[in-house]
Amino acid sequence: MEDMIKEMERRFKPYAEEFSSFKSLPEKGLDREKILELVRSMVSAEDKRWRDGYVSGAVYHGERDHVDFTNLAYSIASQVNPLHPDVWPSSLKFENEIVSMVGSMLHGDDRIRGTVTSGGTESILLAMKTYRDYAMAERGITAPEIALPVSAHAAFDKACHYFGIKPVWTELRDDYSADPERIKEKINENTIAIVGSAPGFPYGVIDPLKELSDVAVEKGVPLHVDACLGGFLLPWAKKLGYGIPEFDFNLEGVTSISVDTHKYGYAPKGTSVILYRNSELFQHQLYVKGDWPGGIYFSPTLAGSRSGGVIASAWAALLEMGKSGYLEYARRILETASAIRRGVKEIAGLKLMGESPFVIAFTSDEVNIYRVMDLMARRSWNLNGLHRPPGVHLAVTIRHTMRGVAERFLADLSESVVEARKNTEEDSGMAPIYGMAATFPSDAVREIMKTLVEWMYS
Ligand SMILES: Cc1ncc(COP(=O)(O)O)c(C=O)c1O
Repeated sequence: MEDMIKEMERRFKPYAEEFSSFKSLPEKGLDREKILELVRSMVSAEDKRWRDGYVSGAVYHGERDHVDFTNLAYSIASQVNPLHPDVWPSSLKFENEIVSMVGSMLHGDDRIRGTVTSGGTESILLAMKTYRDYAMAERGITAPEIALPVSAHAAFDKACHYFGIKPVWTELRDDYSADPERIKEKINENTIAIVGSAPGFPYGVIDPLKELSDVAVEKGVPLHVDACLGGFLLPWAKKLGYGIPEFDFNLEGVTSISVDTHKYGYAPKGTSVILYRNSELFQHQLYVKGDWPGGIYFSPTLAGSRSGGVIASAWAALLEMGKSGYLEYARRILETASAIRRGVKEIAGLKLMGESPFVIAFTSDEVNIYRVMDLMARRSWNLNGLHRPPGVHLAVTIRHTMRGVAERFLADLSESVVEARKNTEEDSGMAPIYGMAATFPSDAVREIMKTLVEWMYS
């Protein structure tokens, strides 16, 4: 634990010495320029890494003129609160148009309903709450369950935890995709929904959604497609001839889709979209209270007050990109991802995990893959660690399409694998943490992680 905290201190709390700490309010307000200088000196240094293409996912666009433009839209609308659509009907227009544009991109018709949320997790939480309430109202289900593949995002587990739903996890097929047969076997009278991803976070593999849709129709259960990661890339990948299977409302069984504007939609952080096939489902997302002394209250999402600024900014990003912009960005990302995938395939000792259009996940039977991840971190790379089974991934964004980035990644990765084979050093970095997580029972890992997270926020 002490070693882990030492490592985490280095990573997560590096500013204790360098910058002033504010443990209580300053007696007198600070000079604005001084405050901005503090923000700048920390964040600008941190930005360099993603700007230069060393980070997996995280910042999906990041070009200065685009960021300046969406920031401007935010600043114009920063006082807007969608909780008061009577004061700011503009926010309702922005939100409805985002839902409509994204719904039509995903082959929804005029019956599509939905809202903008704060991120993929909130979209998923809301969908699961909606299915719980729909199942209660329509079928009297009081012990709700969802059946989902182990590759589905942790947000589904979080939703289950929050809303008293039992997650029924199913193993993947050998190609790392969801197994519709196993999911079908788990459907019973308490099943409120089944889940598939387009694609899933760990391996970037698109689940067999046509088969899942057939299961959903046959069994009469809703199917949620988590397209948080791929919703803004797959439609264009398909147009570019990448052989993308059907994944959206074109499939009869798909009843809801989560899709993140703040990822490949190139909107600022803090926006995602949840879409339902019809208003019958959507109604169960909404919260209203008609007898509150504070007035007639309603809110369509988890929050009460919301940022109208980020909604205006997301609307601006969609309009700025347009179909041609998304198509061109998808082309660049997918070409770079194919080149990186080919390069990783050629590195002796590495093994790709699953087929994905833009996520490169790999493991190794010959070297400790977490040591490779740490050695990549020493070369500035921030990759995502996967576990059960161990692996690492790079989610390719427009940052990696810049000249020389893919080549640098492959060269650094080759060197890191060679170095990992020597295996002479003491374990440091994230390797021991992942090693611990892989060998301890998951309850123990959860307790240890809670202690570490508690430490982070202390
Ligand atoms: C497939 C998938 N679903 C859901 C999420 C959760 O999104 P957020 O982090 O915006 O809550 C992610 C995030 O990477 C994701 O990749």
